[in-house]
Amino acid sequence: MFLLAHMSDPHLGPMPSARIRELAGKRAIGYMNWHRRRKTFHRGEVLSRIVADIKSHRPDHIAVTGDILNIALPGEFAPSRVWLDTVGPAHDVTFVPGNHDAYVRKAAREWHSHWGDFMKGDTTGADHFPFVRRRGEVALIGLSSAITTAPFMATGKLGPQQLHALAELLDRLSSEGLFRVVLIHHPPVTKAAYRFKRLIDADKFRQVLRRHGAELVLHGHDHIHSLVMLDGPSGKIPAVGVPSASAIGGEGDRAGYNLYSIGRSGNHWRCEMTRRGLAPGTETIVDLGQRALMAA
Ligand SMILES: [Fe+2]
Repeated sequence: MFLLAHMSDPHLGPMPSARIRELAGKRAIGYMNWHRRRKTFHRGEVLSRIVADIKSHRPDHIAVTGDILNIALPGEFAPSRVWLDTVGPAHDVTFVPGNHDAYVRKAAREWHSHWGDFMKGDTTGADHFPFVRRRGEVALIGLSSAITTAPFMATGKLGPQQLHALAELLDRLSSEGLFRVVLIHHPPVTKAAYRFKRLIDADKFRQVLRRHGAELVLHGHDHIHSLVMLDGPSGKIPAVGVPSASAIGGEGDRAGYNLYSIGRSGNHWRCEMTRRGLAPGTETIVDLGQRALMAA
């Protein structure tokens, strides 16, 4: 049995001080937004309790699907690495970036030096997407949907190269008999009202999954608990979203994360999901329900 924990969108605070020239353009809007609104519901002490709760279950691996930063100021990167180190050793923690991690164009230049250890594949360097990390019978496939967008947009994109490589990888990992977990920041399905934050090539992503299969897709971005069953070549593929790991309110669900217990049952995979998070009206972390996800 392999125990996988998934959390997302920690949006680490506090916001570091910034030089005036660092707050030009899109960052100025994000900076005001953080101080007026977002810092009141992304809370460090909540995030610490979520991480402690995850660790108390002794997972074999922890996946973090992006938006560790807020507006990608130079001063946000070093604390984000310190935080990732508190989650666990890079061998046991996998990170993929989100749109806030690519808030401005030059942010991606910083990914390698700060988060590279957590995004390094078994045989590829830290700047290569998709990457694969085989851990026991589980293959974690890391994608980057993080792109820099215009103000008020939070779209993501995988692009043809990444999608092509993903298709090949999914086939190879299937032939190795591994339980394939795809990690991506943006959800594969977005409601029409949220077009401004959709994955632009979600239809192509779903097409790759439909043809080449996966056992599980994990994402963040929407800050809510969600489950969508996608079409696969031989059954449905669960795509599961989690709330921000630091949220006590705002537009999404309150802080939570998921645990996946993955194992074999005869010739089939067995995967049970447990949702954990803040109990309604309290700051206590409790079980929010379990569900058997049968895939493959
Ligand atoms: Fe996001």
